[in-house]
Amino acid sequence: MDIRVVVGDVAKFRGDAVVVNLFEGVKAPGGATAAVDAALGGTIRKLIQLGEVRGKWGEQTLVHALGKLPVDRVLVMGLGKPEDFTLDRARIVSAEALKHLRKIGARRVGTIVHGAGAGGLNAAQAAQALSEGALLGLYRFTRYKRNNDNGNKEIETLTVVERDRLKLRAVTEAVRRGRIVAEATNAARDLVNEPGNTLTPTELGRRAREAARRSRIRCQMLGPQQLGRLGARALLGVARGSQEPPCLIVLEYRGGRRGGPHIGLIGKGITFDSGGISIKPAENMEAMKGDMAGAAAVIAATSAIALLSLPIHVTAVVPATENLPSGSALKPGDVLRAMSGKTIEVVNTDAEGRLVLADALHYARNRKVSHLVDVATLTGACVVALGTLNSGAFTNSQALLDKVLAAGRAAGEKIWPLPMDPEYDDLIKSDIAEIKNTGGRKGGAITGAKFLQHFVGDTPWVHLDIAGTSEADKEKGYQPKGATGVMVRTLVNLAVELLSD
Ligand code: BES
Ligand code: MN
Ligand code: ZN
Repeated sequence: MDIRVVVGDVAKFRGDAVVVNLFEGVKAPGGATAAVDAALGGTIRKLIQLGEVRGKWGEQTLVHALGKLPVDRVLVMGLGKPEDFTLDRARIVSAEALKHLRKIGARRVGTIVHGAGAGGLNAAQAAQALSEGALLGLYRFTRYKRNNDNGNKEIETLTVVERDRLKLRAVTEAVRRGRIVAEATNAARDLVNEPGNTLTPTELGRRAREAARRSRIRCQMLGPQQLGRLGARALLGVARGSQEPPCLIVLEYRGGRRGGPHIGLIGKGITFDSGGISIKPAENMEAMKGDMAGAAAVIAATSAIALLSLPIHVTAVVPATENLPSGSALKPGDVLRAMSGKTIEVVNTDAEGRLVLADALHYARNRKVSHLVDVATLTGACVVALGTLNSGAFTNSQALLDKVLAAGRAAGEKIWPLPMDPEYDDLIKSDIAEIKNTGGRKGGAITGAKFLQHFVGDTPWVHLDIAGTSEADKEKGYQPKGATGVMVRTLVNLAVELLSD
């Protein structure tokens, strides 16, 4: 879908439909909604008088223009109470409006920016939210459907009609930023939705290379031999059960100046997690094709940061492999020496994410990053603790955590911190090696994070556990059912936050 910005009167827009809005409690519409109402001969005001249109949050009213406007339909979106309106509501209302109009066959849609007037939002931020909400909400994964069985065609163009010529530049730029981050999120969703038989570790590397080419950044793919020379025995250990070769994918964007922040983004890239010899139950195992959602997030975020030309240095590191059982697979009781030299007793082969991340975190430290953020579908325990609403956050640096939390808030991606007391370390002490890869069921999300902490040294680090948030079991607002692309927009915002030190 193409998104354009024009200066003018939305009542004069030529196309199939226009979107206007109304806050709750408003008796006579103002601004662009008033202009459309006047052209309609007062239909919207009449509907308000009748009590049919109240401007409540979530309300949608379709009015047929019957020749009074150059479009066939007007969709009036309820925005709720002005004091309750937020940037995230601006994304949601944009998504809901366009999903409605797509369903009824509109192809060329005009819209006003929601929330920039009475909503009190900054015009540029509201316009970015409009463009994000539209692209995120209309996303569908259709690769394996021959004809679009739900029948509805895509919306071809969305025209944002801005009344104030002075805001044209800022709104146009904001729409472009929204497009970059939403398309990156959708690219991450595509990777997560892709089945494991096509998205092998090698294919994940190819897709990362393709994203790197489009955003003109460097991409390296280290294969099994190079990994052997690097001593990446934790990653290679997990890969031993699979016929697919593992790889370490490294993207580098050098946008910053010397001495500025250099952020290391690490993403868990298990393209299918069967559990290995400690095999998972069959029920829902298919969901484990999405065990590379962290990888998808860091690849997409790095490419978005480059497309936005943010003045920062980013190195993204993705350890990619399958976790499968076989005669050559890693076994419970095996001991591995990680790239850092630390020895690990593998008590459960299903705790594979922390093994591959151990080597990736150490590799990133060798590349001299100033900050580390890892994103991983790491533990079922995190889903038990926080459900599917919040991602879990764990850190050794309150200052970096605060920036991640602020970045998440601005993105509309909820993140909740969990404790990291040193006492939890006792749970992952091993009798025969330096640490073991599980700490039992109690505090499972925390002991997973504690394990990772052994590989970050004193580098400020935040671990984000997205096991509960990387996929949605039902559609809601700008989030379709399936992959969420969570953390792409948070990581982009974090890059901006880190520049303000
Ligand atoms: N990929 C899983 C975690 C997961 C669970 C992601 C549910 C998404 C939804 C991870 O590799 C895993 O299997 N973790 C184990 C760790 C345990 C063996 C210590 C778990 O959570 O059960
Ligand atoms: Mn596992
Ligand atoms: Zn896993």
